[in-house]
Amino acid sequence: MTRAERKLDHIKHALSTGQSRATWLDDIRFVHQALPDSSWDKVSLQTQIGELVFGSPFFINAMTGGGGAKTTELNSQLARISREMNIPMAVGSQMAAIKNPEEIATYAVVRKENPNGLIFANLGSEATVDQAKRAVDMLEANALQIHLNVIQELTMPEGDRDFRGALTRIEQLVNELNVPVIVKETGFGVSREAALKLQSINVAAIDVGGFGGTNFAAIENERRHRKLTFFNDWGVPTAAALIETTTLNSKIPVLASGGIQHALDMVKCLSLGASAVGIAGVVLKTLVEEGEQATIDLIHEMNEDLTMLMVSLGANTIQELQQVPLIISGELHHYLTLRGLD
Ligand code: FNR
Repeated sequence: MTRAERKLDHIKHALSTGQSRATWLDDIRFVHQALPDSSWDKVSLQTQIGELVFGSPFFINAMTGGGGAKTTELNSQLARISREMNIPMAVGSQMAAIKNPEEIATYAVVRKENPNGLIFANLGSEATVDQAKRAVDMLEANALQIHLNVIQELTMPEGDRDFRGALTRIEQLVNELNVPVIVKETGFGVSREAALKLQSINVAAIDVGGFGGTNFAAIENERRHRKLTFFNDWGVPTAAALIETTTLNSKIPVLASGGIQHALDMVKCLSLGASAVGIAGVVLKTLVEEGEQATIDLIHEMNEDLTMLMVSLGANTIQELQQVPLIISGELHHYLTLRGLD
């Protein structure tokens, strides 16, 4: 199976395995404010990650790697959606184009379709400084995402088995690239221990990429003969990963992703301290099953719902939203008690 075929297989299985809704965001409830003193016209959805200013506090997360005509088409559609809605987008892993320059067009199309928007390059933690610079140049990217995906690699028969040296390599990228380096998990979450390591090398942002949405263990297990089912329920759910990371009180911005389905999920993540939220599976499903216009409509609705929720909570800005009180119960509460984070 070629890399392009494998990536298309991932898309097919991501759509069929879907979102598991196991983020523990449902264990969070807001405290209603009967006198919010807020106004729809005064709400600003703008947020900032270092120098990067987002018009809305969410972005399309990495999905389309591997090369080939189908990926090129998906990348063009996502790029047009991100331009139309003025939201950032990340491309999928660019290793295909680093290994085979014929595939560069698959990714470069994103910058063509969205000349002025925020676009994030994407590679794994095996990337060298030279490869990372090429990935950024290919897109004139505004930032580089480095994905961490140990469980996916282990579940893939053809995946990596040696994960040594990743932190040192990422540190070199942080020091040598002239764009911010964002480190993301891909659905198994960033724990406090991992966040502390990333903090020590001064990454530009940590995307917690938590458990509970697209599940790459389940996806790879669909493709495997001997199933490694013990990885299907592995990982730090997004709500827990966020609290593990945001309570470090470091200056490094935290991004939330993994199983984000709607504006209420986003508002909960932002109120837990995230600076912005990434969505992958839900955007892909809407795009593939309902098309480009339906995806634009979905994002319009998300913006509208975000504004409505912020008005109801009395938060005019994302910074104010990060301070609103919330109640944590259920499994999330139990987990935080055991981890000493309550
Ligand atoms: C992904 N994801 C991903 N991430 C990454 O950093 N590089 C990549 O190449 C890919 N490829 C990819 C393909 C497909 C089909 C999907 C659905 C996802 C992971 C993605 O960015 C995100 O971290 C997870 O999907 C969890 O978020 P959702 O899908 O639950 O919103």
